[in-house]
Amino acid sequence: MAARKVILDCDPGQDDAINQLLAMSSPDDLEILGITAVAGNVPLPLTQRNARLICDIGARPDLRVFAGREEPLQRPLVTAEYVHGANGIDGIDIYEPDHPLQEQHAVDFIVETLSAAKAGSVTLVPTGPLTNIASALQKAPDIAQSIESIVLMGGAMREGGNCTPSAEFNIYVDPQAAKIVFDCGRPIIALGLDVTHKVLATSARVDRIRALDNRAASATVGMLDFFNRYDTAKYGSLGSPLHDPCTCAYLLAPELFTEKSCNISVEVDSELTMGHTAVDYWNVTDKAHNAMWVHDVDADQFFGLLTERLARFTG
Ligand code: BDR
Ligand code: CA
Repeated sequence: MAARKVILDCDPGQDDAINQLLAMSSPDDLEILGITAVAGNVPLPLTQRNARLICDIGARPDLRVFAGREEPLQRPLVTAEYVHGANGIDGIDIYEPDHPLQEQHAVDFIVETLSAAKAGSVTLVPTGPLTNIASALQKAPDIAQSIESIVLMGGAMREGGNCTPSAEFNIYVDPQAAKIVFDCGRPIIALGLDVTHKVLATSARVDRIRALDNRAASATVGMLDFFNRYDTAKYGSLGSPLHDPCTCAYLLAPELFTEKSCNISVEVDSELTMGHTAVDYWNVTDKAHNAMWVHDVDADQFFGLLTERLARFTG
């Protein structure tokens, strides 16, 4: 089967970076049309730099990286250096990468790529605030027809929020954008905290990656060692949740995950619950189903997949 065409839209972020490596490790499964950076975990100049740095680490000079929106659609940017460090991908050697930044704006790249694509042929993989994707849909609504599905990390139901009591970070940072995306009419696969909090980077799992001998695996371990500090203290868990790699893992091995079709609506009015994802898991409304809510995963197999794919890198 031909590789699935994907656009990675991200705000690296250690977990975005590991997701990028996972995608880059799997060219037979995933054809990366482009990597679009958005402001989120850290400001845009750092997220686009980090995406390029990860291309360097994964030795993929062929990949194009685009910088997108610097601010959410309507609200001021909220960042998360307290989780990810001042650089977003702290834990590895940070430098200005050789890998170039494309001149074209990420939103224009998304519009142009989807406009030229066959109906239902491109999968969007957003792992940050949904500002770039929503902007593209606002700019050229017809591009929706080219979207095969949107496999995103965002939202929370049973777990509650991780940056407010009600909201998960990616949705909270740009709730208006999230609403546009959830209402766009194309298939949405939402991997929120209910599933990502089951994917814990325990020391035994990280040690299996540590045993690999290549640059991508070493970078993954460096980032995980840093990332683990904050979340293990916050949650009292044995490792940090590896949120964003759930998206590409879902594309590579959907059988590892369990999901349910339902309606998901995004709160954009209440300051108290801004960015809350109202997941109608039990069908208590008659709202049309607009998403698959992923709520379970085989975490051991997830880490088995990640480790096996990281082992594919050479050098
Ligand atoms: C999400 O927020 C970011 O901090 C992570 O990169 C992930 O995308 C988890 O809530
Ligand atoms: Ca992210």
